[in-house]
Formats: sequence, structure tokens, C-alpha cells
Amino acid sequence: MPKIEAVQGDITQQPVDAIVNAANSSLLGGGGVDGAIHRAAGPELLEECRRIGGCPTGEARITQGYRLLAQHVIHTVGPVWSGGKRREPQLLRGCYRNSLRLAADHALRSIAFPSISTGAYRYPIEQAACIAVETVRQQLEQPTSIELVRFVCFSGGDLEVYRQALG
Ligand code: APR
Repeated sequence: MPKIEAVQGDITQQPVDAIVNAANSSLLGGGGVDGAIHRAAGPELLEECRRIGGCPTGEARITQGYRLLAQHVIHTVGPVWSGGKRREPQLLRGCYRNSLRLAADHALRSIAFPSISTGAYRYPIEQAACIAVETVRQQLEQPTSIELVRFVCFSGGDLEVYRQALG
């Protein structure tokens, strides 16, 4: 059974096959995780993202990792929280499911996720963490190359929420 863990740290420093970026639909960079990943990966990442030409909310796209330790970046676009009545849970599930599918399609073995949508997009972290853990567990029941999923939380508070969600 693949290992699922939660740690506190900086996702750009994770020595895994792919790190997941909490991007926006333009894929042209931003603040938070997006800004940190582009800064660490270097300008070639933005050039590759430009060629992809965007990503709908709930979907994922894969690029090289360039100067990052990770070989790949999987860019996914989380939903903006607007009360929970605009398919936010389904869209957030899609982010995790589609990112894992892409990783498995590329025979990757380890992947690190940030807490998607819980920063600028204001998704309540308790609900988001439950969706993240539940979706990852479900997806890992299918045949997959993935052996490790790591939730990388920026703050101790967030780590506590993910540890609770992992039970
Ligand atoms: N490593 C791990 N987690 C981080 C890092 C980092 N280096 N930097 C920030 N975080 C955490 C935040 O504390 C938050 O818990 O990632 C989580 C997601 O926050 P955001 O980066 O704001 O992502 P999101 O809420 O999905 O908003 C996406 O913000 O940066 C823009 O272009 C991005 O428009 C998009 C929006």
C-alpha cells in the first residue's frame, strides 16, 4: 500500500519525482506556492507553461521541474471558495485525482502536494484537508506507480489539520 504522510516544510525543497503547484487557470505564475515554485524552478518553467496555454479549474498539467529537485511540476487549479455551493468540493477532488492520474501516467513514484486552495482561494482548510486525504486514499486503491504521497504544510497549524484528517 502506498505511503501517505503529512510534513511541515517548503514544497520547493521536496526531493520527490513531482511537486504539485497550486496554480491559477492562466498558468502564468502568481504568489504563494505558485510564486515560490516559479522562483525556484527558474524562467524555463514559465516558458513551458506559456506553451501549454492555461488549465481549467479542477484539472492538471505536467511540466519539467528545471532547477527544482523534483523532475516534474504538476500544475493544478483549485476552486476559489465561494460558500461551497458552486461545486467547490467536486472541483477540489478533481485537482487531487487528476494530479495523481498524471503522475501515474508518467510512472512517477513520489509526489508532494501543497494545501490546494486554502490560501488565496480561501477554502476552509478542515474541509479541504478531508477532501484531499479521502481523494488520495481512494485514488491509491487503483493500480498505480505511486509509492509515496506527501502533504507539505507551510505552517504548524496546517500540519495539525492534515494529521487529524489522516487520523
Ligand atoms: N510550500 C508549501 N506550502 C506553501 C508554500 C510553500 N513554499 N507557500 C505557500 N504555501 C501554502 C499556503 O500557506 C497555503 O496553505 O500553500 C497553501 C496554498 O496557498 P496559495 O499558494 O495561496 O494557493 P491557493 O489558495 O490555491 O491560491 C492559488 O494564488 O498564488 C496564487 O497563482 C496562484 O492565483 C493562484 C492562487
